[in-house]
Amino acid sequence: SPHPSHATTGQGGETHQTADDAGTPTMTTQQGVPVSDDQNTLRNGPDGPALMEDFHFREKIFHFDHERIPERVVHARGYGAHGYFELTDSLADVCHADIFQHVGEKTPAFVRFSTVAGAKGSSDTVRDVRGFAVKLYTRQGNWDIVGNNMPVFFIQDAMKFPDFVHAAKEAPDRAFPQAQTAHDNFWDFVSLSPEATHMVCWAMSDRAIPRSFRFMEGFGVHTFRLIDAQGRSTYVKFHWKPRQGLQSIVWNEALKLNGADPDFHRRDLWNAINAGDYPEWELGVQLFDDEFADKFAFDILDATKLIPEELVPVRRVGRLVLNRVVDNFFAETEQVAFCTQNIVPGIDFTNDPLLQGRNFSYLDTQTKRLGGPNFTHIPINAPKCPFHNFQQDGHMAMHNPKGRVNYEPNSWSQPHGGARENPITGFRSFAQEQSGAKVRQRSAAFGDHYSQARQFYISQTPVEQTHMKDAFVFELSKVETPAIRVRMLAHLRNVDETLAHGVADGLGISPLPAAAKPFLPVRTDLPA
Ligand code: HEM
Repeated sequence: SPHPSHATTGQGGETHQTADDAGTPTMTTQQGVPVSDDQNTLRNGPDGPALMEDFHFREKIFHFDHERIPERVVHARGYGAHGYFELTDSLADVCHADIFQHVGEKTPAFVRFSTVAGAKGSSDTVRDVRGFAVKLYTRQGNWDIVGNNMPVFFIQDAMKFPDFVHAAKEAPDRAFPQAQTAHDNFWDFVSLSPEATHMVCWAMSDRAIPRSFRFMEGFGVHTFRLIDAQGRSTYVKFHWKPRQGLQSIVWNEALKLNGADPDFHRRDLWNAINAGDYPEWELGVQLFDDEFADKFAFDILDATKLIPEELVPVRRVGRLVLNRVVDNFFAETEQVAFCTQNIVPGIDFTNDPLLQGRNFSYLDTQTKRLGGPNFTHIPINAPKCPFHNFQQDGHMAMHNPKGRVNYEPNSWSQPHGGARENPITGFRSFAQEQSGAKVRQRSAAFGDHYSQARQFYISQTPVEQTHMKDAFVFELSKVETPAIRVRMLAHLRNVDETLAHGVADGLGISPLPAAAKPFLPVRTDLPA
């Protein structure tokens, strides 16, 4: 320490050993000034008023007063860890991204798991979707796969997201429920949105009450593109398959755990990693082309649909290992900023209308949540490869351009000229042909809201089907408005008659309403 160690005696207060010969550093203010007394304010005599000149007191309280930042508007409660991604099978045949070229190469990673609806201080074992967000610090920049533990989503178009989230989170007048789906607004919204039916079935399944983060699958949800060295595109869905297996708890356990240990999932991850029992997932890809996509009755750009794994097997290409807990929860887990827009050369977007809305939303919200345009300067968000650009200034700028140049083109020779774009190694968008009128409309192929919900239900074991039925009964029994329950039953009749009857019996509703009619016309020229 540059400062001498010394013991201090507070004036009129207690005596504290603040530094010693054992290497304990001397406490300082934020300006680096050694502190003599951190326990007693400076006062005009032991019984007198506090003095305004006590800069140490004012700095300490000022900083405390500013500790909170806005919690994430969704996925507020989460838990992160560091690790690495290791490529086990080259994808060079279909993708030129550096991360997929060299088998055995390790790429640093940070992962944040989360619940969606609950506030930052809510419980871990609630019935909810779980976020599974992965930041890969590749040699070509940061690539984020911002996914969930379910392969589909509630809505097809990002325009609906604010309404969906408003309905799912606490009602604006009563401010409950804080963490659960069991209330009128959520069920009102989804029962008026047939496209939500498939995801609602996942949310009522055991997937929504995972045993821990370590026993969940992860999904990139959207169809993305892989681009090869010749610029050709292959569609891809990303999967994370847990090496620990897939495990859930039952509802009864979930309720007890919420009471006994609201931190059950974060404690599990912390303890496992600290015990050296590193959780691991395989990265899987489903690859397909336009010809294959055109064979489906549904649209591969529709985030409420999955690509059946029997039709396109998941090819395992790498492993993700989490082997280090954070040093500081706020600095890393709270300040990490994932964004679907963070992709690298060799990866590209599709025209999925949900994905394209997300690409706007994350950057926008993080600019507010993290206090301005420079949150990439925070170490957890900064790339681990070299980076150069002429962006400058703004709140909290940590690294501005060095030297004279902050623009291009410029005529200054190196080393003063700064960085230049590179048409060979730089990111290039896939040159997709586009045509069509500007319309607020989805294609008819987005219209089938029930087939995959039905496939999901019948793919469950009888025990799992019973759990789903019980979950629907429990959640809908909390809904106070009878018409909402009835509307939901009309959708369930399109999923499975046994399920619909079971839920109706549980709720004491008889007779059943007629099955719901889809809002959009269903495409009938292709097999389901
Ligand atoms: C946060 C996943 C749809 C807006 C998150 C997070 C995940 C996630 C995992 C938490 C990231 C973290 O741990 O920090 C998904 C998935 C979606 C989806 C899988 C659908 C496939 C949307 C849509 C929008 C949206 C449609 C808006 C149009 C947000 C926002 C945050 C967020 C604003 C907070 C980000 C932050 O404050 O850093 N989402 N989301 N999401 N999501 Fe989504």
